[in-house]
Amino acid sequence: SKTYQNILVSTPAKGVTLITLNRPKALNALNSQLFHELNQATEKADNDPAVGAIVITGNEKAFAAGADIKEMKDIQYAHAYKSNFLGHWTKLTTIRKPIIAAVSGFALGGGCELAMMCDIILASPNANFGQPEINLGVIPGAGGTQRLTHAVGKSRAMEMVLTGNMIGAEEAASTGLISRVVKEGSVVDEAVKVASKISSKGQVAVQAAKEGVNAAFELSLQEGTRFERRLFHTLFATKDQKEGMAAFAEKRKPTFTHE
Ligand code: CAA
Repeated sequence: SKTYQNILVSTPAKGVTLITLNRPKALNALNSQLFHELNQATEKADNDPAVGAIVITGNEKAFAAGADIKEMKDIQYAHAYKSNFLGHWTKLTTIRKPIIAAVSGFALGGGCELAMMCDIILASPNANFGQPEINLGVIPGAGGTQRLTHAVGKSRAMEMVLTGNMIGAEEAASTGLISRVVKEGSVVDEAVKVASKISSKGQVAVQAAKEGVNAAFELSLQEGTRFERRLFHTLFATKDQKEGMAAFAEKRKPTFTHE
């Protein structure tokens, strides 16, 4: 299997790819190479029929403390613009399979933005989320002003982005930034459990469900519900729909073939 320098990739359960960000000395600061590796690993999992869901995690102290400040401090505008600096980060949002972020410790700047690009965020009680870019003379550059605002609303997003203040796990849960806080030390296990469960469903429906929820961020309610209904209709062309509904009627467990 492929070896990476900044991430670890494993299969902790059937159908689940676990990606561990692995620059602990730099609090998993997201340098360019790390994100390219993350893109390669997620794309590989996306194209592997044996994988149903992906978990991304860091370590106890940091999910990721942001883009690598040392790597970007001397970048000039012309270079940033011409190279579309950080543009490759958006590749993660094109992954079709569900991605769960298992967050402990710092999720700051690009780390918070990475978590927000995932589909579900679970957090340890010690997790801290923030967009401290303002303290560096810049602003969030990987979706922070957009996804945070969608998640927590204008006032809270403004306060976080303008002051750089962090919020804890409980506050992140109560504002809807994350799905829930789990017991200390269990966030990766919990995320793998959720990923396993997703992986056991019909994968065509899972992919359609992710596409549908994501459409809510792009479309009006009328267009969005129409898109959803069309996706719903397409699922009647799948064997998994026939199997899922037959199994319900026959009071047995479905066996999905992902077709
Ligand atoms: N980039 C590069 N290196 C980083 C880093 C980052 N984002 N965050 C931490 N590190 C490094 C530190 O420089 C330090 O390295 P050395 O041992 O070589 O000095 C090491 O990780 C440990 O960090 P600290 O000693 O600072 O640890 P701490 O516990 O005292 O503080 C912290 C933790 C409060 C998270 C602090 O590290 C910090 O403020 N980090 C920067 C957070 C930040 O500003 N993130 C936003 C980055 S900009 C961005 O992400 C742009 C975007 O929108 C994409």
